[in-house]
Amino acid sequence: MVSTKPLTGEVYYPPEHLVRHANHPDYEAIHQAMLTDLAGEWGRIAREEFEWFAPWQKTLDDSNPPFYQWFVGGRVNIVHNALDRHLNTWRRNKVALLWEGENYDQRSLTYHQLHREVCRFASVLRAMGVNKGDRVTIYMGRIPEIVVAMLACAKIGAVHSVVYGGFSVEALHGRIEDSQSKVAITADGAWLRGKIVPLKDIMDEALQRSPTVQTVIVVRRTGQEVHMEPGRDLWYHDLMRLPIAETCIPTEELDAEHPLFLLYTSGTTGKPKAILHTHGGYMVGVATTLKWVFDLKDDDTWWCTADPGWITGHSYIVYGPLLLGATTLMYEGAPNHPFPDRWWDIVERHGVTVLYTAPTAIRGLMRFGDAWPNRHDLSSLRLLGSVGEPINPEAWKWYHRVIGKGRCPIMDTWWQTETGNFMITPLPGTPLKPGSATLPFPGVQADVVDEEGRSVGPNEEGYLVIKSPWPAMLRTIYGDPDRYVQQYWSRFPGMYLTGDSARKDEDGYFWIIGRVDDVIKVSGYRLGTAEIESALVSHPAVAEAAVIGVPDEVRGSAIYAYCILVQGVEPTPRLVETLREHVAHEVGPIAKPAHIEFVTSLPKTRSGKIMRRVLKARALGMDEGDLSTLEE
Ligand code: PRX
Repeated sequence: MVSTKPLTGEVYYPPEHLVRHANHPDYEAIHQAMLTDLAGEWGRIAREEFEWFAPWQKTLDDSNPPFYQWFVGGRVNIVHNALDRHLNTWRRNKVALLWEGENYDQRSLTYHQLHREVCRFASVLRAMGVNKGDRVTIYMGRIPEIVVAMLACAKIGAVHSVVYGGFSVEALHGRIEDSQSKVAITADGAWLRGKIVPLKDIMDEALQRSPTVQTVIVVRRTGQEVHMEPGRDLWYHDLMRLPIAETCIPTEELDAEHPLFLLYTSGTTGKPKAILHTHGGYMVGVATTLKWVFDLKDDDTWWCTADPGWITGHSYIVYGPLLLGATTLMYEGAPNHPFPDRWWDIVERHGVTVLYTAPTAIRGLMRFGDAWPNRHDLSSLRLLGSVGEPINPEAWKWYHRVIGKGRCPIMDTWWQTETGNFMITPLPGTPLKPGSATLPFPGVQADVVDEEGRSVGPNEEGYLVIKSPWPAMLRTIYGDPDRYVQQYWSRFPGMYLTGDSARKDEDGYFWIIGRVDDVIKVSGYRLGTAEIESALVSHPAVAEAAVIGVPDEVRGSAIYAYCILVQGVEPTPRLVETLREHVAHEVGPIAKPAHIEFVTSLPKTRSGKIMRRVLKARALGMDEGDLSTLEE
């Protein structure tokens, strides 16, 4: 509940005109209406805003928690709402996807053109034997074909599993194997900082470890020579020229709860989890959150700088904007290539009106000074956004002052792969406090609780939980429903455990503190200690490894690895480099440890669990605290 008292702390009030013309309903009224009749309100929105092939019988089925279902019995397809329905409107010839390559290549696809491309590729996938429910792995850079591939899968009811192009061999292999994909879609390479990321080579190496994939479709992007395995690998452009690439393939009418995609993310322990999202609820959630929070209108040019390989890209580069019939911009390369003003140059040239990015990028660009953004006309911007980790007030203020010229409110959106859409976030009319994600999205019952699951008092730190279901929530962990229950719903029965700690101030504003599990956020990327540790021990020199995150000024956290070497192996500086490269090769460059320290033992509890708290204290030169449970 928002207090009616004057707000405490440093508060930024929204510009009057923005509030007057905003898309979103009155916060208090809609939040209360949703808390009173959650299913009724979401049912109304779902009916009014989307087209369904057949209506649902039950808006929310909560008879078997935590396996909640939404719009039960309804028939729908997210692609029908993201593409097909726009073709009968004036939006047919509106730009859907505006793309810029790192080398300044430009492409724009109207709704008509994107639809046509998606239809053709969907026919190709059909011809390759991809059926409803089959999983397809997509491993590409930020190019239009990744959007086409995702939508083509969804159109025929196949389930896409996008693996971030910055991941490498073992991470890709593990995700292909777990999803049991028969078809994989990749590119010859991706441009990054003027260099080529050899996606196809990495795919080839991963496939040597994964026998499930029978067909690999390769998009030509960089044009360098790549190996094409006869009988397995096919060029995208060759397939799209064949008569099988029909343009009139119908969009599959699916059950609202039909799986839309898997997206792997790191959790507390063990291998990454395949988070499962479905057509109906995810569609309603992502479109509504984007419409209300970022106020998207038909004359906006929306730019979410994330990668489609992460949830932010799925929800807010691809599905959300297209569902709203908006223009979504995608940029292929690095923010500072060839110069630190590349992003500001893009904003100016394309007239970007709403920019959504991550604190790590803001901090990185801030370091180059104000002159780079100041040489560009950024007056098209009207709203800004932040996601991925807590934004420090210094970066918030710089973003607000230098990029937004003090005119553009900053929507600091807290959410997760699992939640599918924004959960704690301002709306354009919300008074802002730098560093706070502010208030729950309408209908979201967020709270901060203690060890016993009791709400804590103002400004006390505790576990961030969600106490009611929402349409875009994950449905399960693919192939492991027990883990879904155990990981998210067992610590406090009836509450979704986010894995974050937070505090709520006297005004009800949420301040996210960070992860309380073994997840490390490096430059906003979510990495699990287990995946990095297993990459380290897969090297013949390493017997045991433990990984922690330590604070880093730009990246948020940096990876600090402790390794016990196999007997007889010399701990040399060269070995440090070899191990860092090994992690980059197995997991990806983002997972490279910033520091590696060789030790002869690791602090463990009597039950054998590594005491990361002790390691962290040691890495930071702090007091190691209570060591009474230490075994070694
Ligand atoms: O720790 C929180 C942090 O990112 C985690 C979710 O990571 P991922 O599933 O990769 O999704 C990132 C994009 C939605 C959360 O548990 N996080 C995300 N947004 C914020 C945040 N922390 C603070 N403030 C945010 N706005």
